[in-house]
Amino acid sequence: MKKSILLLLVMFSTLIFAQENKKLALTPPMGWNSWNKFGCNVDENMIKQMADAMVSSGMKDAGYEYIVIDDCWQVSRDSLGNIIADPERFPSGIKALAGYIHSKGLKFGIYSDAGTKTCQGRPGSRGYEYQDARTYATWGVDYLKYDWCNHSTQDAKASYSLMKDALVKSGRPIVFSICEWGTNKPWLWGKEAGGNLWRTTGDILNCWDCITDWGGMGWILILDKQNGLESYAGPGHWNDPDMLEVGNGGLNDTECCAHFSLWCLLAAPLMAGNDLRDISESTTEILTNKEVIAIDQDVLGKQGYKIKDDGDFEIWYKPLESDDIAICFLNRSKEPMDIDIDWETLDIKGKYKIRDLWKKKNTGTTNKNFKAEIEPHGVIFLRLIEED
Ligand code: GLA
Repeated sequence: MKKSILLLLVMFSTLIFAQENKKLALTPPMGWNSWNKFGCNVDENMIKQMADAMVSSGMKDAGYEYIVIDDCWQVSRDSLGNIIADPERFPSGIKALAGYIHSKGLKFGIYSDAGTKTCQGRPGSRGYEYQDARTYATWGVDYLKYDWCNHSTQDAKASYSLMKDALVKSGRPIVFSICEWGTNKPWLWGKEAGGNLWRTTGDILNCWDCITDWGGMGWILILDKQNGLESYAGPGHWNDPDMLEVGNGGLNDTECCAHFSLWCLLAAPLMAGNDLRDISESTTEILTNKEVIAIDQDVLGKQGYKIKDDGDFEIWYKPLESDDIAICFLNRSKEPMDIDIDWETLDIKGKYKIRDLWKKKNTGTTNKNFKAEIEPHGVIFLRLIEED
């Protein structure tokens, strides 16, 4: 009798935690991750400085909240199987670091891998899922990015579901970021496996359209792979086209604006990947443009999609709350481009006010053609506001 009451209690609390976890990431997560800029060169001082800079740069005010350490923080396991952080790079321990980040009003994220080893050869969580989840919860982890290297013959959905169950069991709400590079189409099972976001492609690179044989590519090539996935995204479960390269030097300011605009139009997670301690004015302006971020964070949670493809000229569309619409005109060419758009041809009827989100100006209404020049590799990003 006593046993069955205990069992019922355990089942009930697991259900409550599962419900709690469902409330996570109702809008796409925003934060910073160490990988794009620092790779394996991570340590506690740098991470603390990044948290400080997230506050002082205005990024926290703009909505960024997670500070995530990617690969290479871990070195081994102790005799009981507990995961050990690099004692030289993290001498105060991860729990203290999480405490520091929380004291800034921010949240803390960490990285592991569903296989035996991470992509950089550090210990993975295979066989230690429940133990690691418990450790993360005691440390105060709020976000887990879970990679897919060294998985041998493991089944992807089963492996991610296992870690999700472990996270739920840990009793702490932890955002679950599936990083499986799109290999097994995670948009089809990621939500069921408990993912709050899932990578849809290989790694983003710090360039416009470069590509590597191991699956890395520039942001514009990643963009091309997002169209058609829009029906799988929504509050609590997002397609993740990878972290931002804004401010990392491989893209000029115009290109950074385009990259950031399209990520917002896609309702993508916004994880900055640059050095926040050394951030230029123009990069700050891009990353903290609140009207652009509002497109990403719109409560409807609709991922935008392409409505016109004329080669170098594309039009992207995202429905917003209150019947507003976000429209992004993209010039993929290396030359300036003149456009003259009749809104009716886009099926945009009725009268909307036009707000230019980068110029931060109202620029007329949709009752006449929209004429403008788009910079090379640039965008014009608009919010169409329904008039009463
Ligand atoms: C994979 C992931 C990257 C990063 C590295 C770390 O390549 O896709 O985002 O986490 O591993 O090793």
